[in-house]
Amino acid sequence: MNLARRRVKVLGVMMMVNFFIYIMVEVSRSGGQGKIDSKVHVPSKRFWTKRTTSEAYWNLQQQRLDHVYNPILRAENGSSSVLPGWLNTTDDLDSCEPDYGVTRLVKDYNSLPSRFKDFLLYMRCRSYPLVVDQPHICKDQPFLLLAIKSLAPHFDRRQAIRESWGRAGRLANRTVATVFLLGNASVEDNFPNLSEMLRFEISQHQDVLQWGYRDSFFNLTVKEVMFLDWLHLRCSGASFIFKGDDDVFVNTHRVLDFLGSLAPAKAKDLFVGDVITNAGPHRDKKLKYFIPESLYVGHYPPYAGGGGFLYSGDLALRLRSVTHRVALYPIDDVYTGMCLRKLGLAPEKHKGFRTFDIEEKYRSNPCAYKGLMLVHSRTPQEMIKIWAWLSNPELNCQ
Ligand SMILES: *[C@@H]1O[C@H](CO)[C@@H](O)[C@H](O)[C@H]1NC(C)=O
Ligand SMILES: *[C@@H]1O[C@H](CO)[C@@H](O)[C@H](O)[C@H]1NC(C)=O
Ligand SMILES: *[C@@H]1O[C@H](CO)[C@@H](O)[C@H](O)[C@H]1NC(C)=O
Ligand SMILES: *[C@@H]1O[C@H](CO)[C@@H](O)[C@H](O)[C@H]1NC(C)=O
Ligand SMILES: *[C@@H]1O[C@H](CO)[C@@H](O)[C@H](O)[C@H]1NC(C)=O
Ligand SMILES: *[C@@H]1O[C@H](CO)[C@@H](O)[C@H](O)[C@H]1NC(C)=O
Repeated sequence: MNLARRRVKVLGVMMMVNFFIYIMVEVSRSGGQGKIDSKVHVPSKRFWTKRTTSEAYWNLQQQRLDHVYNPILRAENGSSSVLPGWLNTTDDLDSCEPDYGVTRLVKDYNSLPSRFKDFLLYMRCRSYPLVVDQPHICKDQPFLLLAIKSLAPHFDRRQAIRESWGRAGRLANRTVATVFLLGNASVEDNFPNLSEMLRFEISQHQDVLQWGYRDSFFNLTVKEVMFLDWLHLRCSGASFIFKGDDDVFVNTHRVLDFLGSLAPAKAKDLFVGDVITNAGPHRDKKLKYFIPESLYVGHYPPYAGGGGFLYSGDLALRLRSVTHRVALYPIDDVYTGMCLRKLGLAPEKHKGFRTFDIEEKYRSNPCAYKGLMLVHSRTPQEMIKIWAWLSNPELNCQ
């Protein structure tokens, strides 16, 4: 009797509490909505800023491209009669004729190292002939396309990659395709004439793409742009792309694991690597990455080190669609960062990308590589050795 009465009482209290919670939720919901409505904020003036003008040549070229491709900027001044002189040119924006205007527009042109002169003269050129193509390399839509920047004389590196981490075919029940990206290692740069050997290699493996431009460090950006064009043409169905150098080791097993575990939304905008933030141009003439003030001023956007990064095919095609709106920059990985920024994206850092290598004491420990995606740098022999370690089913790492 007593027990039954207590139960009814408890039940009653619980119902009242529930009702109370219901009222609270309803009140706060309608209150919240009202609040959001009343806080809509209409900007009273322009809510974006124009990039500040700079005399540096790249910055001027970029401003020009922004002006051409951005209708808001173009509309800003109404009539075009107020165009500053440097914007009022009828020059072709992507001409492949040498642009002698740079000798005038770049203050210290004559005293710059010759690689800068070469770069500046052809900075507008964005199309070179594809002299060796592989039109069928993606006929089985690859899950992962490995695109490896190589140089004609690096036969042994390419072969080691084919025999190890870059073997095309099925791996972990996924389709992997591999292409090597080459320019022309030309006689003017004192390269021996390797054209016959290259021809033999191409006939054996059918995995080399070659464009008819001079393969130099500053032209790696051209390689990037040409590759994205080729991808659009021949391999637009690839789900993911790894792009990197021919002196890195890639743990393709780990890469496939990682890619297979991504949620679809994450996969679509994927761009991971060893990301460098808050960097800017080096001003020390002796460094490989030296950039004179007459060429570029400003910080660099976040970018993934060019040793190797991994991104989605979807994003690659979006990158391709903005390359013509970003002035070519002599450092290819920074350029890719600039294109990502144009898309409103930034690369994401992943601890598995070791472009500055791992601690020396772990380098000969097979288990040290198991959880990594990329290590830089490794010789062809090391690539083959490490791949054998990782492919051994008896490898037991706790
Ligand atoms: C552009 O320059 C040409 C001469 O080079 C001049 O005739 C023309 O008026 C200029 N146009 C504008 C919009 O400034
Ligand atoms: C637009 O007009 C402002 C002042 O009216 C001027 O300072 C600016 O240089 C002009 N911009 C261009 C691109 O002509
Ligand atoms: C391999 O992939 C195919 C289709 O992609 C699937 O049908 C099959 O079950 C997979 N096999 C294994 C062992 O996961
Ligand atoms: C390189 O060798 C090939 C074949 O021997 C020859 O056809 C070609 O003209 C040579 N190229 C140069 C630049 O000498
Ligand atoms: C590469 O350059 C050499 C001259 O150094 C030239 O003979 C050859 O045709 C070029 N090859 C390509 C693919 O452009
Ligand atoms: C890039 O390639 C083009 C075409 O071969 C060449 O004219 C230019 O000098 C190269 N630029 C650099 C910086 O090597």
